[in-house]
Amino acid sequence: MKSVTKPYKPKEDKYIFTEGINYFETGKASIWGTGDKDTLELLKKLEIRGKWLNLAAGDGRYNLALLEKADFVVASDIDESALSKLWHNTPKEYRKKLETKAFDITKKFPFEDSLFDGIFCTGTLHLFPKEVLQQIIFEIDRVLKPNGKIIIDFATDIKRVSPSGKLIIFGKEPLYGLNNAKRILKTLFENYHIQMRESKVVEDFEAANPPYTLNCKFIILIADKK
Ligand SMILES: C[S@@+](CC[C@H](N)C(=O)[O-])C[C@H]1O[C@@H](n2cnc3c(N)ncnc32)[C@H](O)[C@@H]1O
Repeated sequence: MKSVTKPYKPKEDKYIFTEGINYFETGKASIWGTGDKDTLELLKKLEIRGKWLNLAAGDGRYNLALLEKADFVVASDIDESALSKLWHNTPKEYRKKLETKAFDITKKFPFEDSLFDGIFCTGTLHLFPKEVLQQIIFEIDRVLKPNGKIIIDFATDIKRVSPSGKLIIFGKEPLYGLNNAKRILKTLFENYHIQMRESKVVEDFEAANPPYTLNCKFIILIADKK
């Protein structure tokens, strides 16, 4: 895969929340850090097999953990520079079971029905208002096999503060509260057996554009399709 260095500009009014950066200027590590401890533990513990979709995978902080267990992983994002960094960072022996696919998560996914055994999505779904989130979950459900598994996280009570102390909000992002988000997720996944765990994070994202300190709660949802 060639190195895609062209930044993908965000268009928040169209629900495109990209960073607008050349990911090859961000070093080898993910701009989102090494990953949340609870999420990484879950990835170790849960049964992950067959073909998985890593949705809005970014530059891939969790992708290797998926590749180590799944038979095949499709890493997707709208930003080809992020995906290209993910691919270049993936050890050669895993690349044969990795495909990258660039698409907009808010549109129809470019996959047939019931293609995936599992779908993973972190750090992203909280950015969308309820009606867009509903459409994304509809597509997730469409491309997931019966008995398939979903692992997502959903950030709530978000506060992003720039190094100069300014509050950062992306476009008209909805800023969900914990209880409201739990209610919405329960409704959206009513045809699933679900487990929800709650966690918190305070973390500096120095390579994000603009850089900020994130303080939020988040839900980790594990959903098994009935
Ligand atoms: C906060 S990052 C999370 C990346 C990764 N899932 C992780 O947890 O490290 C959000 C990702 O969503 C992608 N994204 C934003 N809007 C999108 C859209 N409309 N369609 C697909 N991907 C999008 C961004 O390019 C970015 O990589």
